Amino acid sequence: MSNANETTSEAQPSAANEATGRGKLIVFGEHAVVYGHRAVACSLPRGATAVVTPSSQPRRSVTHVDGSLEIDERAERALAAIFDTFELSPRHHSVDVELSIPVGCGLGSSAAMAVAVARSAARLTDLDEDDARGRIDEAVAASESVFHGKSSGIDHAAALGTGFFAFSNTHGWPEITSLDVPEHRWIVARVAPPAPTSQMVASVATLRQRHPQQVDPIFERFDALASAGAQALEAGRWSDVGALMDLNQGLLSAIGVSTPDLESACYAAREAGALGAKLTGAGGGGCIIALANDDSADDVMTALQELGQVYSYTLPPSNP
Ligand code: MEV
Repeated sequence: MSNANETTSEAQPSAANEATGRGKLIVFGEHAVVYGHRAVACSLPRGATAVVTPSSQPRRSVTHVDGSLEIDERAERALAAIFDTFELSPRHHSVDVELSIPVGCGLGSSAAMAVAVARSAARLTDLDEDDARGRIDEAVAASESVFHGKSSGIDHAAALGTGFFAFSNTHGWPEITSLDVPEHRWIVARVAPPAPTSQMVASVATLRQRHPQQVDPIFERFDALASAGAQALEAGRWSDVGALMDLNQGLLSAIGVSTPDLESACYAAREAGALGAKLTGAGGGGCIIALANDDSADDVMTALQELGQVYSYTLPPSNP
């Protein structure tokens, strides 16, 4: 229990120090993007809000849409990696995070959280804007490698981004091209318990190691779908976007990251009139995304509500 003196000596979370990071939807190309191929994603309008506060009694609080998150040893290591980058001590800082997206189901919650915490930590230093930006990138990469092991950096890019973008990391650094996509409603359904991204990435690595001649051409197809998908998105050719999403889902199934729950949800969305549906993120559980026309969107949402929690986002976000 704290006494009155300790309580008054604690700095309170300050709104001036509040920072945000966004969640993401991967529309095309997850997994192949880890091997340098092209993918397409969009930042969500929201994700995580964090406040880092100097404190002699450091507190960790992470709340999300379904309750609060326990800070386990791995999450503490990820936080330590962020603090290290800014030469701050985790033992002398409280961290309060509020997540407004579901956690651990393909929507980029760990990167959103890392960006929000790193941006807030940067404000406690006297780094200039350029240096702070570089350190934020370093801190987020370090935190993501604690959570996910080998990662492409696409979640990181989305957490810092504002809209649709094409992404590749072929030469060891990210190449990001903004896409000018007309506004549309995107439906997200969380239909299965999440699977760790690191495990799903490792299972694809094992498959590729065993069958490189079969898996590498599939990765090439992901890349071609992402290029065609980027063009269809920019032109607002929604029925083509939907057809390409369905093809992408077939490839994700081929590399073993889909599940019966995810497949059933994709079929249910299509039967209710969706133009296309696919899992999003690492798979093995988590969320699907569905694209529908205005006249079928409500039916698709109703069909998916039978299978899990449904969210709808207008993308690109209107809060750049
Ligand atoms: C995870 O959101 C996306 C994956 O492609 C992993 C990565 O790109 O780092 C599965």
